[in-house]
Amino acid sequence: MTNRVELKPGVIYFPQLLDRAAQESLRDEIYAAIHSAKLFQSTMPRWGNPMSVKMLNLGPVGWVSDKSGYRYQATHPVTGQNWPRIFPSLLKIWDTLTDNYAAPEACLINYYSATAKMGLHQDRDEEDFNAPVVSLSLGDTALFRIGTSERTGPTQSIKLQSGDGLIFGGPARLDFHGIDRIYKETSTLLNEGGRFNLTLRRVTKPHL
Ligand code: SIN
Ligand code: MN
Repeated sequence: MTNRVELKPGVIYFPQLLDRAAQESLRDEIYAAIHSAKLFQSTMPRWGNPMSVKMLNLGPVGWVSDKSGYRYQATHPVTGQNWPRIFPSLLKIWDTLTDNYAAPEACLINYYSATAKMGLHQDRDEEDFNAPVVSLSLGDTALFRIGTSERTGPTQSIKLQSGDGLIFGGPARLDFHGIDRIYKETSTLLNEGGRFNLTLRRVTKPHL
């Protein structure tokens, strides 16, 4: 079993959950998905200014953000196509880390260039908060920060490296979190540099 470090109740860090071979095969699956479905540029609600990360989703629904707000929807906002399926390799990781919780319905793929960041936010557009969010990192190291369910609560920071896993659930499910910076050229996994982060989410409440 892989290393499991509880950073605080509900936040579990799995350093090097994926070995290099697993990272390479996940990377190649991501490249194939992007080749067919294309990353899109999200914008912030209200003002519509572009986010610095580029996104794609896998699964029956995907998270999107535009002038009218945040939501899950079944189709790609640019092409109108359904999202690609969640890879079986990801479903397996989800089952292991969530102890076989009902299958995830969305996998958000964020691509960070060396200058991209993500401001502190909560993941709360899901109906079901019983499942944790499962996060996987590939490529350059990132400085991840997580606080409490209040925007101004104390935060702790951790560097997420290529192959690392992290889950936040239970008492930490609604904690504010974000990416303060990317450490350029810290990984050789991605030819173009930068970082992919994948977050697997259960969106609807599971049927009994
Ligand atoms: C996110 O909160 O959607 C992404 C977090 C990360 O990039 O590690
Ligand atoms: Mn998030």
